[in-house]
Amino acid sequence: MLEIMRKRRTIRIYQDKDVSDSLIQELLKAAFFSPSSKNLRPWHFIIVKDSEMRRKLSEATPWSRPAERAPVVIIVLAEELSEKWIEDCAIAAEHIQLAATELGLGACWLQIRGNMHGDEPAEDYVKRLLNIPDNFRVECMVSVGYPAEEKEPHSESKVRWDRVYAEKFGVRWKE
Ligand SMILES: Cc1cc2nc3c(=O)[nH]c(=O)nc-3n(C[C@H](O)[C@H](O)[C@H](O)COP(=O)(O)O)c2cc1C
Repeated sequence: MLEIMRKRRTIRIYQDKDVSDSLIQELLKAAFFSPSSKNLRPWHFIIVKDSEMRRKLSEATPWSRPAERAPVVIIVLAEELSEKWIEDCAIAAEHIQLAATELGLGACWLQIRGNMHGDEPAEDYVKRLLNIPDNFRVECMVSVGYPAEEKEPHSESKVRWDRVYAEKFGVRWKE
């Protein structure tokens, strides 16, 4: 598992190759195995393959462009059963990305919640495009495809022992 976490990098460029439904199912299983606050399991997911819809989704924010280039975009949303829907969705989105890495796919988190589409919240834009009911919230989209860019796995240089404290803030845990 640590190896997959090391390998997981944000992939924004994809091969022109479909991702099978059976692989998409594996990604979604990983999402549904996430922990959630009070075990409310509020997640819903929309699988978007249609290229015209992906193009529209890629305009959700200035940072959503990978949605147009990926063969599949997974919208991560939740019924707003508690304020913890944000954490619940974030973990599910990360599970999708880790599973993608394990399956030889590349993925990118595309933030929706809290970002703007011009003058309107990007969340409203995505909800309108995809007929998402009012009582649902959209966290993010995850674009998925076979990688067409290579990135180095994370190295030990990312590990910041100076940010780890023993018992109280400020006391280094490890020299
Ligand atoms: C909460 C969150 C929001 C992000 N939003 C975007 C986004 O809107 N567009 C994008 O291209 N990447 C987005 N990313 C990906 C980050 O840019 C990426 O994780 C970061 O640069 C580190 O690179 P790595 O994932 O390869 O370690 C987001 C990541 C997170 C965790």
